[in-house]
Amino acid sequence: MDANVVAPVLELNHVIAGYGDTQVLNDVSFGLARGERLAVIGRNGVGKTTLLSTLMGLTDLHSGEIALDGKHIQDLPSHERALRGLGLVPQTRDIFPSLTVTENLVSGTKEVASIESAFELFPRLKERRNNSGVHLSGGEQQMLSIARTLMGKPDILMLDEPFEGLAPVICDMLMEVFEKLAADGNHAIILVEQHAELALEFSDRMLILDNGEIVFHGTTAKVRSNPEILERHVGLGHSDA
Ligand SMILES: Nc1ncnc2c1ncn2[C@@H]1O[C@H](COP(=O)(O)OP(=O)(O)O)[C@@H](O)[C@H]1O
Ligand SMILES: [Mg+2]
Repeated sequence: MDANVVAPVLELNHVIAGYGDTQVLNDVSFGLARGERLAVIGRNGVGKTTLLSTLMGLTDLHSGEIALDGKHIQDLPSHERALRGLGLVPQTRDIFPSLTVTENLVSGTKEVASIESAFELFPRLKERRNNSGVHLSGGEQQMLSIARTLMGKPDILMLDEPFEGLAPVICDMLMEVFEKLAADGNHAIILVEQHAELALEFSDRMLILDNGEIVFHGTTAKVRSNPEILERHVGLGHSDA
């Protein structure tokens, strides 16, 4: 109790999880502090999405514990985890195609933020507020997916390859938004990214996954000064294959 100030806001202990009997994550343990920016990188298929899904309660947990603010949440359903401050922007974006931008924004389980604050962050969405999801560009859909998650005012924002398939100008704009969100020191952000350069640009700490296991966990500064870490675990110049 008295160690609350230094306690990590999110903590995973020996998490083993997957889909049905299939095990994907193997003995994953790490902590995340308030305000921290953590990048999770690794090749395609190593378990990055599964890690975020497991935090959100969308996979089968075989064993291990997940604690949020010192309380175990591994048995809670995902909507309950959202209420406690976990917010996921899924890799698939999951926009409702037949609903308008505004309707999509209020379709979450927990609405705490105002639509105006979403439009302030993404003026483009305000212009498109009466358009249905299906008529949005990929970039606009991603903005909407992020804005919808932010409607729940998550303490921990989890972004699963948010730049995937988007034009560089949109990526830069999204990165600015993430920087803005991180700058207030209240959110922790977990950025899952295949491209090491973007992860290096954004994060304080990095976690590298390979075959469902953490093969590196340390500061971004350490990775920057030891490029062989990336070479060994991710491969340089790799791309989505
Ligand atoms: N819904 C699912 N059911 C069964 N296996 C899955 C499912 N989703 C992902 N997997 C498997 O889990 C492993 C990790 O996938 P994933 O977490 O999506 O990797 P990444 O996000 O790092 O590309 C892969 O072998 C993938 O085939
Ligand atoms: Mg993935």
